[in-house]
Amino acid sequence: MDHFEYRGRELFCEDIPVRELAEKYGTPLFVYSSATLLHHLKQIQTAFASANPVICYSVKTNGNIHIAKLMADHGSGFDVTSGGELYRALKAGATGDKIVFAGVGKTDPEIKYALEQDILFFNVESEEELHNLGAVAKSVGKVARATLRVNPDLPPKTHAKTDTSVKGVKFGLDIDTVVEVARGVVGHPNLQVVGLHMHLGSPILSADPYRQGIEKGLKLIEAFRQMGHPIKYLNMGGGFGIHYRKQEALPAGAFAEVILPGVKAANCQLVLEPGRFVVGNAGILVSRVVFTKESGGKHYIIQDAAMNDLIRPTLYDSFHRIWPVQPAGNLPAPPTDYEVEIPDTFKQNVVGPVCESGDYLAKDRALPVMKRGDLLATFSAGAYGMAMSSNYNARCRAAEVLVTGGTARLIRRRETYEDLVAAEVDCKD
Ligand code: LLP
Repeated sequence: MDHFEYRGRELFCEDIPVRELAEKYGTPLFVYSSATLLHHLKQIQTAFASANPVICYSVKTNGNIHIAKLMADHGSGFDVTSGGELYRALKAGATGDKIVFAGVGKTDPEIKYALEQDILFFNVESEEELHNLGAVAKSVGKVARATLRVNPDLPPKTHAKTDTSVKGVKFGLDIDTVVEVARGVVGHPNLQVVGLHMHLGSPILSADPYRQGIEKGLKLIEAFRQMGHPIKYLNMGGGFGIHYRKQEALPAGAFAEVILPGVKAANCQLVLEPGRFVVGNAGILVSRVVFTKESGGKHYIIQDAAMNDLIRPTLYDSFHRIWPVQPAGNLPAPPTDYEVEIPDTFKQNVVGPVCESGDYLAKDRALPVMKRGDLLATFSAGAYGMAMSSNYNARCRAAEVLVTGGTARLIRRRETYEDLVAAEVDCKD
C-alpha cells in the first residue's frame, strides 16, 4: 500500500500532483509520502504489538532529520551505525534510551559520544570490539550495555552484497565462538551483556530466515544466561523486504508470526531495526528527460537523475519500477507484471549524465515513447536512495520534499555549486 497513485493521466503523491512538485522544486527530486511512511511504521507496530517492541528505525536507510523526526514523533527509536547517524537521531529529537548502535568499526570517539548519550546498548560485532568497549567505558567511568551480534550462519537469502548472515562475512560474532567470547567478559565491571542481536540481511522476502535465526539464538541466550549475563533483549535487526517489481513484499504480520513465539520463548524484550520496510515504498525519485537517443540498436532515455542520486541499480542490479509522471495514450498506469509484453512500450535504457557505462536506473525496460522535458518517476526510492547519494561528477545532491495530504514541505534544499566546494574553501590546518 502506498499513496502514489495515478488519477487520470497524472501521478499524485497523496493529494498533490507530482508534476507540480517537479515544477516548483526542480529535478531530480525525491518525493516522500508521510502517510505511506506512517502506514508502514504502524504495520510493524500493530503486527508486533503483543510483544511491546522497541522499534529502532534504521537511520542509514534515510537519515533526513525531518523523516527521523516523524518517526520519533510516532514512537520510534533509532538504530545508528556511526557518530554521524547518532548526531542525526539526536537532531531529530531522539533520546539515548531508544538508540542502539551497530557497526563493525566503532571508533573510540564514537563510543564515547554514545556513552555520553547513555544509549540503550551497543550491538557488538567482534571480541576485540567488546573488550575495547569495556575499556572505553572504564576510561569515562561508565558501564556500557552490549548485545552480542551473532552471525547465525544461514543459507544465502538476498543479494550477496547485502547478505549479512552467511558464513564468513564481516558482520557479527561467529556463531561457533560467540559463547566463549561472552564467557570472556563475565563479571566485567564496565560491561553488561544484556542481549543478543542479529541482522540477517536486506531485503528479505521470506520469514524463514528469521525462524532459523531465532532457533539458533534461543540456544545462545540460554548459554549466556547460564554464565550469568543478564540477558533482557532479543534484537532481530531489520531486513523486511518491500515492493520493487510488483506486490512481492510480505506483510509485517508474516514476520511477526515467526518472531513473536521466539521472543516469548526467550523471555526477552523484542527490539527491531526496520528501515527499508518503513520508508522504501514511501519515496519516489522524479527526473526529467534531457534527451533521447539510439546507439547500436539500443534506445536510451537520458534523464537528469543518475547513479549519484540512486546507486542501487548500478551497485546491486536492483529493479525499480519507472513510469512517466504523465503517461500518454493507452497507458494510464504502470505495469504490474513485467514478465508479459506491455503494449505501446518498447525496451529502453534509462540512463543518467554521469560518465560511466554503469550509470543507469533501468536496462531494457518496457517504457512508452518519452521526449525531451517529460517527467519520469522511479518508484520505491525512499530507502537507500538519498542516503547513498554522492557528489560524483560534481553533481549537486537532489532536493527532498515531504508530502502530507495536500501540503508539501521542502525537507532538504537542492545543493548548490558553493556547497560542492564549501569544505575545501573553509579548510584550515
Ligand atoms: N540493522 C542493521 C544492523 C543493518 O545493518 C541494517 C541495514 C538495518 C538494520 C536495516 O535494514 P532494512 O530494514 O532497511 O532492511 N544499501 C542496501 C541495503 C543495505 C542494508 C544495510 N543494513 C540496499 O540499497 O539494498
